[in-house]
Amino acid sequence: MSAPVRCAVIGLGMGKGHAKGFAECPDSRLVAVADLDVKRLAQFKDQVGEENCFTDYRRMLKKVKPDVVGVALPNFLHAPVTIAALEAGAHVLCEKPMAMNVGQARKMIEVARRTRRTLGINLSYRFTPQARALKDLVDGGALGKVYHAYTSWTRRDGFPGFGGWFGQRKLSGGGPLIDLGVHRLDMAMWLMGGPTPVTVSGSAHYDIGVPRAKKEKKAFDVEDLACGFIRFDTGASLVFEISWGGHQADPEEMCTRVMGTEGTAVHRNEGGGYAFVAEYFTEKN
Ligand SMILES: NC(=O)c1ccc[n+]([C@@H]2O[C@H](COP(=O)([O-])OP(=O)(O)OC[C@H]3O[C@@H](n4cnc5c(N)ncnc54)[C@H](O)[C@@H]3O)[C@@H](O)[C@H]2O)c1
Repeated sequence: MSAPVRCAVIGLGMGKGHAKGFAECPDSRLVAVADLDVKRLAQFKDQVGEENCFTDYRRMLKKVKPDVVGVALPNFLHAPVTIAALEAGAHVLCEKPMAMNVGQARKMIEVARRTRRTLGINLSYRFTPQARALKDLVDGGALGKVYHAYTSWTRRDGFPGFGGWFGQRKLSGGGPLIDLGVHRLDMAMWLMGGPTPVTVSGSAHYDIGVPRAKKEKKAFDVEDLACGFIRFDTGASLVFEISWGGHQADPEEMCTRVMGTEGTAVHRNEGGGYAFVAEYFTEKN
């Protein structure tokens, strides 16, 4: 039997979920955590030992030499910290969005290849049973030729606060498109078989968040809605619509619909929250 994989987590907001997964999986062990926030760190003292709770992630990488690192930091730190962890010899599971821009993402891939480490991005909705069932169906040919898709995630009032890193472009890279949109664009393009975009056009709107933040005298310079149109090398098209806030019925509305000559696959939420359904429509029979 091989020894359990030694895992560490950097960033203990969403990273608490990484820590829980690493600790509960029979093949892995949580051995260290890092965060600048000592209150968040203190919650792990009993689990990993005080000596394995670090405010300096570089020290943690050097001292603990984990096999795997979960990176769950504000977006502007994804690329530099992932690269530092790969260079230290660890495999990395980095939170979405992968990076602030394509240049950073390419650099991360280049370092992973050179160091021969695995780099994964936590596009977590792929792992819902509904998404997996649809992927099997599509890969089995149930849609025929895929020619069009629509993908959306809109919130009624789901701004992640004003004044924090999420709403400041230099720290987040953007608003709902880079935050929620990466999940729904990934879902659509993954189900479509990974076509290459040829042209993209879009619009970003600043009509709700920016005025609200101004009233509260808080920093906020990202869009509250982004929409667009992508054309792929296969000839297929994709329409997307993503927002953190707007007048609508449910708190969260998510839908990805992939249309083919033989059928349509739908992955959507139900009840305004995080319960999902998978649907397949065909006129064939
Ligand atoms: N996969 C998903 O569905 C999902 C859901 C939520 C968040 N996320 C992603 O997770 C990431 C983190 O989001 P969050 O909501 O946990 O944010 P957060 O602000 O709550 O947590 C980030 C943590 O990083 C720590 N930190 C900041 N700089 C640091 C540094 N230099 N060294 C060590 N620690 C540092 C902060 O103290 C904080 O505890 C984001 O990229 C977000 O997009 C993904």
